Amino acid sequence: MSTYLSPAKVNLSLRIRGKRADGYHEVDMLMAKLDLADELHFHNSRTTTLLCDDDHVPTDESNLVIRAILEFEKHYGRKAKQRITLTKRIPWAAGLGGGSSNAATTLLAANEILGTQYTPDELAEMAAAIGSDIPFFLNPVLSRCQGRGERVRPLEAYAEWTSPILLLKPQFGVSTPWAYGAYEVARRLRGVMYDVQTVNGLRLSNDLEQPVFAKFPVLALLKMWLLEQAGVQAALMSGSGSCMFALTESAEHAQRIADDAKQQFDPTLFAYCGTVNPQ
Ligand code: C5P
Repeated sequence: MSTYLSPAKVNLSLRIRGKRADGYHEVDMLMAKLDLADELHFHNSRTTTLLCDDDHVPTDESNLVIRAILEFEKHYGRKAKQRITLTKRIPWAAGLGGGSSNAATTLLAANEILGTQYTPDELAEMAAAIGSDIPFFLNPVLSRCQGRGERVRPLEAYAEWTSPILLLKPQFGVSTPWAYGAYEVARRLRGVMYDVQTVNGLRLSNDLEQPVFAKFPVLALLKMWLLEQAGVQAALMSGSGSCMFALTESAEHAQRIADDAKQQFDPTLFAYCGTVNPQ
């Protein structure tokens, strides 16, 4: 058996530059990995199957792990024959890239286990065919991601930058296609701060907050509340939500804010205190 960690990401920033002829949006994102990760276990087997410890996660072809195996097999020309078990820790429909990360990890694992020696460029091509955010996870260093997200350029100057981070996610999730689809028609809520926030020279803002906050105003409230808390350097939504995050001065600040959020908002909030761009 081989075990691989599959990390979550945050979009430190997500700017939309326009709509493309292929229906996607041209984006300009800053993506960084987190120390929050799923685990994938691979066993050689007679056929490929997927098992997951979370009943909410589909294990058929709608799961990006299976889509990754199918894409890999197209290039391999043979069956991968893996029994895969997935231990889920990254919340789903959160904007934390759980499914995309699992797909990238599956490509990396298959390449290693089956000894195919596909190059990073070949793996990136397979990754982009499965989903826009997947190439980032093949080498998840802090990167600027453009195009529809698949054009990844590591930010060398920030290779060693790291920060304490707090994630807060309500129980509901947000559909990414819906959020992008609603972007053009969405209005800003009055009294909510959408402006660029700057942390250590990184310019942070998320254009998808506009449609998502209009449908789920509790997320806008959560952002404004986070911005008022001691030790918060920046607070915004990750990807298409529903996860909100705050970069904090210290891990202690993050923990205190997590405890207060559960007390003041909702004891069922998912809360995670960890590190962004861990070394
Ligand atoms: O590429 P992926 O399958 O992850 O994208 C999911 C959906 O999100 C797309 O079908 C599209 O509706 C939307 N999307 C977009 N522009 C992007 C990325 C995703 O409109 N850059």
